[in-house]
Order: sequence, then C-alpha cells, then structure tokens
Amino acid sequence: MKIKPARRISGRCHLPGDKSISHRAALIAALANGTSHISNFSPSQDCAATLSCLQGLGVSLDRQGNRIRVEGKGLRGLRPSSLPLDCGNSATTMRLLAGMLAAHDFPTILTGDDSLKTRPMKRIIEPLERMGAQIASLDGHPPLQITGNKTLKPISYVLPLPSAQVKSCVLLAGLHAIGRTEIVESTGLTRDHTERMLQWFGASIEIENDNDETEARTCAVVGPASFSARDVRVPGDFSAAAFFIAAAALLAHSEIEIEGVGLNPTRTQFLDTLRALGAQIDIGSKRDESNEPVGSIRVSGNLREDIEKELSLRISGPLSAALIDELPLLAVVGSQLPAGLMIRDARELRLKETDRIAATAKNLKAMGAAVEEFEDGLRVVGAAHLKGATLESFADHRIAMAFSVAALLAEGESEIIGSECVSVSFPNFFEVLESVVER
Ligand code: S3P
Repeated sequence: MKIKPARRISGRCHLPGDKSISHRAALIAALANGTSHISNFSPSQDCAATLSCLQGLGVSLDRQGNRIRVEGKGLRGLRPSSLPLDCGNSATTMRLLAGMLAAHDFPTILTGDDSLKTRPMKRIIEPLERMGAQIASLDGHPPLQITGNKTLKPISYVLPLPSAQVKSCVLLAGLHAIGRTEIVESTGLTRDHTERMLQWFGASIEIENDNDETEARTCAVVGPASFSARDVRVPGDFSAAAFFIAAAALLAHSEIEIEGVGLNPTRTQFLDTLRALGAQIDIGSKRDESNEPVGSIRVSGNLREDIEKELSLRISGPLSAALIDELPLLAVVGSQLPAGLMIRDARELRLKETDRIAATAKNLKAMGAAVEEFEDGLRVVGAAHLKGATLESFADHRIAMAFSVAALLAEGESEIIGSECVSVSFPNFFEVLESVVER
C-alpha cells in the first residue's frame, strides 16, 4: 500500500466490532444453553478463525455479514474434531479455546500460521496441566495437542505476567471445574472482557479489589457453571480507533468523530495518555451495551501545536501492560513529541504477532527518527521530521496500521510492504482511513 502525506483528517467514522469482545461472545455463546445472536461481530480474520474452530468442534453457527447466530452446546457439549483446528494468526483463539478444551475428555490439535507457531504457550499449559489436562507442544509452542479431563480441579492461580489471554483461559477452564477457580492479578491489570461477558450471560463471577490499586485484583468462578444464551451487541474496537485518534491529534486542524466505540477502562489508557499530553478529546453519548461501556470519541488536531516544549513521556510498569496493543502507535506519536518517548517493562511486545520492539524501531529509523532499542522497550527521540520510506509490516496488522499513521505525518510518499495483513483485525482499514484523509 502506498500512502501519501495528509494535510488533516476530518469527518465521522464507524469502526468494526471489537476483536477481543467478539472472540469472547462467540466462545461463551457456544458454552451457553440455547441460541445467541451476536451483532456487530468483528470482521477480522482472527475472529473468523474462532468461528471456524467452534464449527470444527460441532457448534452450529450461521453468519450473515457481522451478525452471527450461535447454537450453544452447554458446558461440555463440544464434539471431537477429526482434523486439527487452525487458529490462523490468533493467539486469543488458541489460548481461550485451550481453556475450554481442557475440560473435554478427547484429544484436539490446535495449530496456526507461522507467526502463531512461534508464540509462547507454556503460560497456559502450566495452569491447565495443574487443573488436570494433558497438553503436548513443541517445546512450549504450537501445535498443541490437548487431551482434556472431565473432572478438572479448581486452582488458585497467581498470574506470573499480565495477560488477559491467560486469565481468560483459566477462567473458561474453571467454569467446568468442580469448585472455585481463582485468578490473582498482581502484576498489572488486563482487559476484563471475559469477566464482563460471563456476567452478561448470567454466569456467576466474583471480583475483588477491582478498583483498588493497592491490592491485587482477583476474579473467580465456581464450577460447574451453567448459563443461558443471550444476545450480544459488540462495541466498536478501541484498538482500531486508536489509529484514527492518533492521526487526528497529530495533524493540525483535524476534527474527527468516531461513533459507538468501546470505552472499557481496561482498554482506554491510550486516551488518558494523549489527554495528559494535552490532546483535545471529548467523549459523548456514553452508554452501556452488553455490559461494556460505549460512547463516541471526538478528537481535534491540537497536539503538536499545544504541547509544552519540555514534555516527554515515559511508559513503564503496569502502564506498559495497559497500553500493550497501542505501544507501536505510541512510539510513532512519541517521535512527534518535543522531548520524545521512553517505553520500558514491555518485554511482552517482543512476543506478539512479530517482535514489535524491533519492528517499530526498524520502521521509525527508516523514516529518519532516532531510536534506541532495549530488551524491554525503546527510546524514541522527539521532534522527528519523518520522511516517506519503504516500511515493513512484518506480517503484523498493528505494525502496518501504526506506520500508515506515521506515513500520513511524513514528508513524501511511503510504501507499506505486506499491508494486506491489516485483515487480521481490520479488513477495510485503508478504505476507512482514506475516507477521512484530506491532502
Ligand atoms: C488480548 C490480550 C492481549 C492483547 C491481544 C488480545 C485478548 O494479549 O495483546 O491483542 O483478547 O485477550 P495478552 O493477554 O497476551 O497480553
């Protein structure tokens, strides 16, 4: 994809349904008793992989565009698949489904694309084996062969790293265990969509210290759980909105309104960070949809004009976990701040769809920014005058989209190699972007 610089962006846009919430809606609907309808389901390839894995396990589904009908099988109703299940590029599909399969006493093979085969799975194998499942892997990497156990043991699990996927995997397994399965988050809060979706379906889930920063948050389910089908409307994807928010904040005279976006506080740290820098961002039409906060976001392009000259940004500790999917984009923003940006405690970024620290550093350098790379983060020198360049997506959707925003800010045209990978989360990203760009 070739991208020319933009003068400003303006207009209104609607973004696709949230990817994280769509996975959970489909998986939990499959475990419910009865028929659920999901609307505004994410058009991403990742969520399509979740649906096709569920079909492989005997779940009957119907898809009409972004409306999905799921015939729930109830707890333990999944059926063996004669073929390996292909999770594509989606670690969320693999890790969450593994939790459900841990309670089904037949073998299933979960596999994926070349990127997914490099992703670490010991983090889910360890707790699921403690609960009584057997999981074979290639030294902690996919493919996984999961042989579940009908009588899973409940556990109390202290998350060794902040990961919503690991938390969700153990919670979904815990629904089937006999007794109370508890997860303690002591290393930083992670997105809570699984907890909210379980509540929406009427499963009982106990949460302690949700808003208390001094104590570890715990969430627990008591199994065997039983819950009924429920219709779900998926909010717009905040992580998709982030690209438009950043572009609007950085391009002077921009005015953009994004409607119906998920505003779950475990996802919106990027807004708080930009606001702390002085970005003008207003939230309107706040409401709840299917137990998730939703609203519209208006952004004006004042950031580069209004920012204080000495303001630099440091992201570390729990903030790095809260911003995990937005860090490559934040690095692009950091290159435009007068005093730059430092990101630390973000080692996990090296274990995403690609090594996002290396990929971000390489592309920023190709555009003429000065970047120092650390094992757990990077430092971006500010006030960079970005130049159009040939940029690599590294087959990673968030890298392709973050550097499309960088390309809008640059002098001269850029080309993103392998840009089609945006389909992993946001298939019509480039069309929506073009619809708001003015040159
Ligand atoms: C996700 C959790 C995060 C995030 C990923 C989606 C989820 O991963 O990076 O894009 O839907 O639970 P981790 O749980 O590995 O941090």
